[in-house]
Amino acid sequence: MLVSAAEMLKKAKAGHYAVGQFNINNLEWTKSVLLTAEELRSPVILGVSEGAGKYMTGFKTVAAMVKAMDEELGITVPVALHLDHGTYEGCYKCIKAGFTSIMFDGSHYAIEENIEKTKELVAVAHNLGLSIEAEVGSIGGEEDGVVGMGECADPNECKAIADLGVDMLAAGIGNIHGKYPANWAGLSFETLDAVQQKTGEMPLVLHGGTGIPEDMIKKAISLGVAKINVNTECQLSFADATRKYIEAGKDLEGKGFDPRKLLAPGAEAIKATVKEKMELFGSVGKAE
Ligand code: 13P
Repeated sequence: MLVSAAEMLKKAKAGHYAVGQFNINNLEWTKSVLLTAEELRSPVILGVSEGAGKYMTGFKTVAAMVKAMDEELGITVPVALHLDHGTYEGCYKCIKAGFTSIMFDGSHYAIEENIEKTKELVAVAHNLGLSIEAEVGSIGGEEDGVVGMGECADPNECKAIADLGVDMLAAGIGNIHGKYPANWAGLSFETLDAVQQKTGEMPLVLHGGTGIPEDMIKKAISLGVAKINVNTECQLSFADATRKYIEAGKDLEGKGFDPRKLLAPGAEAIKATVKEKMELFGSVGKAE
């Protein structure tokens, strides 16, 4: 069931758990995430970065594939198709393509421009029934060419953006895309707490979900995080399982080179990672 992310995040916030956003890269990825969400009766958000959208030949292809797959697999849990770290132009493309949710990442603009553009996109998205995420401060590291320095968000700026009526807010709290370096200082719970104090009931988004220790994830949820993004961890699981299959020479046995066989261990590994995360985030059984 394709829906906006607004309702599922309100429920998550009230129920003190988080909904996972899992970034998709292709058909196998999408299928693995959808089947796991259905099996665990969990709401889910499929994240699509601009780079991944381009790789899959465009947002129209992605929206058509996700809609059709959701139907053909008979998925009954709530699924949001969400643009990840969208540019201003990218947001309009996804709205047109049939996404049910967008993220406008205006964090690299001066706050006045971020506010102005976010305000416009909130009106457009809500008018069409889509949910919208905005960002303040920046997520460190690199994801599909989007590079951030990792500054912690200013709680007053977060309030200004939250007041525009966004459905979810990504605030930089020392989180990083990709693997965390050994000398990482950890999440700034002080910033997270201050942001939530200023923004009231706003569901907060934790990007860079890969590699954050379990206790930090739980604490972040207790302080107001209702959506957690995971991308790299599924990529690592997929690559690891695929490497093992090939290193064991399985692709050379019988018809082991058939893509349906070659990609199967990776697809199963993605399912296992998604399951582990949904259990940790507390979203299992929350689809009803
Ligand atoms: P990771 O790749 O670190 O899991 O981050 C995902 C993310 O935040 C997507 O926006």
